[in-house]
Amino acid sequence: AASVVYEAENAAIVNGVVESEHAGYSGTGFVNSANAVGPAVEFTVQAEAAGSTDLAFRYANGGTAARPATLTVNGATHSTPRFAATGAWTTWSNETVSATLNAGANVIRITATTSGGLANIDALTVGAPPGDGPIAD
Ligand code: GCU
Ligand code: CA
Repeated sequence: AASVVYEAENAAIVNGVVESEHAGYSGTGFVNSANAVGPAVEFTVQAEAAGSTDLAFRYANGGTAARPATLTVNGATHSTPRFAATGAWTTWSNETVSATLNAGANVIRITATTSGGLANIDALTVGAPPGDGPIAD
């Protein structure tokens, strides 16, 4: 099924920088947030129609603890994804949720809730990933 990748390096970044020192990212880099409560990455994404869709945050967490965040969709709290440790900063994984989007623009934000800050954030894929559904990719 169709999906669209939004690179974190093109998102609005609060208290973080774009880096590329850890291999395996898509696009031109990833966001390294400060190790603190409050850094955020905010994506503005487009939906063709209102409805439920998959949001997959691609990230790496080479630390020993999870790096939880508050996920908001259009300003409303959606969930608190964990961003569990991945074992290395070069090991990337996806934290995936289902969310209801509006037709048109939607603002999707993750904000760090612990002193570790966010995991390194590579990208947000909106929609089921290729090969995941009955409609040709
Ligand atoms: C290391 C790593 C960074 C990461 C940071 C962290 O410095 O190189 O990419 O963001 O740890 O713990 O957040
Ligand atoms: Ca960091």
